[in-house]
Amino acid sequence: MIYPTILCGGSGTRLWPLSRKSYPKQFAPLLGDQTLFQASALRLRGDEFASPVVLTNSDFRFIVTEQLSEIGIDPGAILIEPEGRNTAPAVLAAALHLMATDPDAVLLVAPSDHAIPDAAAFRAAVERGLAAVAAGQIVTFGITPSRPETGYGYLELSAQPDTSGAPIALTRFVEKPDLARAEAMLAAGNFLWNAGIFLFRAADMVAAFEAYAPEVLAPVRAAVENAHTDLGFLRLDPTAWAKAPDISLDYAVMERATNLAAVPFSEEWSDLGGWDAVWAAQAQDEAGVATSSGATAIDCEESLLRSESDGVELVGIGLKNVIAVAMNDAVLVADMSRAQDVKKAVDALKVRK
Ligand code: GDD
Ligand code: MG
Repeated sequence: MIYPTILCGGSGTRLWPLSRKSYPKQFAPLLGDQTLFQASALRLRGDEFASPVVLTNSDFRFIVTEQLSEIGIDPGAILIEPEGRNTAPAVLAAALHLMATDPDAVLLVAPSDHAIPDAAAFRAAVERGLAAVAAGQIVTFGITPSRPETGYGYLELSAQPDTSGAPIALTRFVEKPDLARAEAMLAAGNFLWNAGIFLFRAADMVAAFEAYAPEVLAPVRAAVENAHTDLGFLRLDPTAWAKAPDISLDYAVMERATNLAAVPFSEEWSDLGGWDAVWAAQAQDEAGVATSSGATAIDCEESLLRSESDGVELVGIGLKNVIAVAMNDAVLVADMSRAQDVKKAVDALKVRK
């Protein structure tokens, strides 16, 4: 069985004012009617998939149950992290939890905040990855890079992808390179971006932590063994959890492991890392303008206009390369090229308060 394991602990400040600390982007209907979290859960349904396992924090636990119940999905387990320790401890906790009842468990770890419009194509890619999983490999999903992005991981392929889309062994995993290295890897042509989605046997991941990050394994194992159930949520033990280092799976394991493979994924994928990425993923008119139901664009080009409030009409006139997002209590107006600086707005507002 493949256990979809959905990570939803992040806060997504670059999508302010829609994404808030108490209600981050994965729980908002950023594209279409479903929230990103709901779309992530719906994407991983089918005969080969068990009920999803969700990793989140205490503040979001009822949002998770409510949003799953809205789409008719029963969670297999909801693990509550006492505090955010990044993805390595979270992924390991899920692997240890599932292994306790199913020693052959295969996990498909997925973020809750990505857009992958073609769910069937993605499930087919997962299916192709299973051959490598059976051979004891940790499988990643590779996206054809289009720019020297420094916010992603890079997968170095040991061979050219063929048309079958079969998994390819990796010679290297490079997490978040600096610009010079990113440019070199883009130019080299044998690298893909890491989509941030991982497929592996629980036992292989635990073995990888044993070999490369034992300092994460000991506290997380204790946190899982001493977890307690509370209203159907599995709360990891806070004392043990506090000893787990704050580190991502990419740095703790992926940069060090040698049993890695990638399944190339050539359909649309976006990590929706900023409003510019949301604009690119949304339906646009001929002039490149994306509007929500409460927004009107007059003679605008290449812009995103969204009103997230029933009571607020947003109108843009003669705009070019502009992001405008209106909420009940906050409005963002920014140049499209400054989408990554939106996190500065959140910092600035924190200072004022
Ligand atoms: N439950 C839980 N707990 N989830 C977490 C935590 C945590 O402590 N920290 C992060 N997450 C969730 C985030 O909400 C997101 O959905 C996912 O885990 C990945 O974390 P990010 O912080 O967004 O990682 P990243 O974007 O910097 O990098 C990763 O994704 C890239 C693709 O989007 C890496 O895997 C890169 O290699 C990859 O290219
Ligand atoms: Mg991310």
